[in-house]
Amino acid sequence: MKKWYAVIGDPIAHSLSPYMHETWFAENGVDASYIPIHVKPADLEKALSALKTLGVSGFNITLPHKEAILPFLDRLDETASIMSAVNTVVVDGNQSSGYNTDGDGFVESLFTTPVDISKKVLIIGAGGAARGIAFALKRAGFGTVAIANRTLQRAKELADEVGGFPMTLAEAENDLGEFGIIIQTTSVGLSENKALPMSLENIKAGSIAADIIYTPLETPFLKKAKEQKCITINGVGMFVYQGAIAFEKWTGVKPDTEKMMKLITSKLGGHYVNK
Ligand code: ATR
Repeated sequence: MKKWYAVIGDPIAHSLSPYMHETWFAENGVDASYIPIHVKPADLEKALSALKTLGVSGFNITLPHKEAILPFLDRLDETASIMSAVNTVVVDGNQSSGYNTDGDGFVESLFTTPVDISKKVLIIGAGGAARGIAFALKRAGFGTVAIANRTLQRAKELADEVGGFPMTLAEAENDLGEFGIIIQTTSVGLSENKALPMSLENIKAGSIAADIIYTPLETPFLKKAKEQKCITINGVGMFVYQGAIAFEKWTGVKPDTEKMMKLITSKLGGHYVNK
């Protein structure tokens, strides 16, 4: 029988996940559909039960449900458990298993550019996204991971957990030249917000600057980093790779990520450049 998958969130109308997964199903001859479902926070438990009753094979979870879904799942993999957040569920019979592919998705997107894991990494921000990325970087073998955050206490807590180094934003600004890879995970720069999380005056030419935001494709952080002659990576790669890892869990097939990055970039009105 035809399988079906979904993404649940609030809001959900602008999600690009249905387009991405439907395209991959078609490219790989998988007989399945993928639909967006608007679920309000108060309806989450009922929605999960309904999805299972109706025979969903798996689904993605986006804001604001990534943490709230935890108590309703039957099992969590190690990453989802460490992060206390789930973005992908596999349903097998009545059993639902939660995964979190965001951090690994980011790291895979980072490796679309030549990357040296001995380089020092700076993560700006210490929220949920930073958390997933910090753990994934450590799993991938990066030695030095510093975490700079507006609220130093949160940077300290995350650094303690992951074996990294906490910094204030001012300290990071000063020492920016020491880092070969700088990852921007705060919401600063999203949509019409023109701000930078910190001054990039001291960034070293040739270092990698990555942002997890993809609306806009070029955030003020990436624009400034490009002016300073850095190699820049926008959030499209993280979006595509977190989806590709989910797709493989559901179907056993590795989809074409390079082509999808081009498709998503052009859907977002940009010209795809892979350096
Ligand atoms: P997410 O799960 O998307 O990472 P979050 O947990 O709300 O979201 O975290 C948002 C991050 O952006 C935090 O690191 C936050 O800093 P604080 O811990 O000090 O709140 C950071 N952030 C948000 N607005 C910011 C701003 N104007 N300047 C600097 N950092 C900001």
